[in-house]
Amino acid sequence: MILIKDPIALEGLIKAKKAQNLAIGFVPTMGALHLGHISLIEEAKANTDFVVCSIFVNPTQFNSPTDLANYPRTLEADLLLLAAVGCDVLFHPEVSQIYQSKELKLSAADYGNFIHVLEGAKRPGHFDGVITILTKLFKITLPNQVYFGQKDYQQCMVVQTLIARDFPSIKFNRCAIVREADGLALSSRNVRLTREERAIAPQIFKTLQYLSQQWQKLAWEAALNEARSSLSKLPFELEYLEVCDPNTLETLQDYSANAVVLVAVNLGSTRLIDNHIL
Ligand code: PAJ
Repeated sequence: MILIKDPIALEGLIKAKKAQNLAIGFVPTMGALHLGHISLIEEAKANTDFVVCSIFVNPTQFNSPTDLANYPRTLEADLLLLAAVGCDVLFHPEVSQIYQSKELKLSAADYGNFIHVLEGAKRPGHFDGVITILTKLFKITLPNQVYFGQKDYQQCMVVQTLIARDFPSIKFNRCAIVREADGLALSSRNVRLTREERAIAPQIFKTLQYLSQQWQKLAWEAALNEARSSLSKLPFELEYLEVCDPNTLETLQDYSANAVVLVAVNLGSTRLIDNHIL
């Protein structure tokens, strides 16, 4: 695997690969890699000829300076994982190689109403930063296919809209959530959980599974309220638990055959999100 920091060097390499008619698969990440990220690389390897992973802790998508400062950075271990899975290139630029000093963020505002709810409401400006960085990364890596995790369900919708609007030749792939044996969705932030917090974190997915069982039943609204109150008990602090239309993210009031339940909690000082298609 080659490690490239310079965007111009990567552009040159990608152009050479495309001239050989190779299909480029791209997996953007912020590092602190785990098997969820690796599953995306495996999917890209299986379906494209040349796989690029990026590790870039994107400052413009963090709405808390503390969260940005504390974001785990584990480059040595990441390199080993990427080499083992057969990734072709790791793109790992410096912030100054991506952003000019006074650059404006792109605005997510006109990417659909779903931008304003859930993560969009709780993390103002977050999706502006995601759209800004992905626009830059897609222009550098010129991918034929990109791979994103369902773990960030709303992010997938944002990326699909960005691609449909600005990069119609890219094929978007949404990959399944990889979980620990006890159901906790893998996340770079899990390493920040204390032992006690880690022990109760699987409660999040258990709650989603419970709602999934209740969804077709008449008393699901009571089940939703019960689930909310159980996830509001300390040390959980519930940000949202909503059953939504999977295409618009509008909150569903009644049973619908298509639905997704999405959750965000703070567990101690760690923010965790998860979702489950019902
Ligand atoms: P990051 O949180 O590092 O995630 C990179 C990719 O890995 C995302 O597509 C995410 O959905 C996926 N992923 C994370 N946990 C997963 C799991 N348990 N199972 C399957 N896939 C999982 O998402 C970002 O970075 C950034 O916002 C980024 C898109 C890189 C833009 O900066």
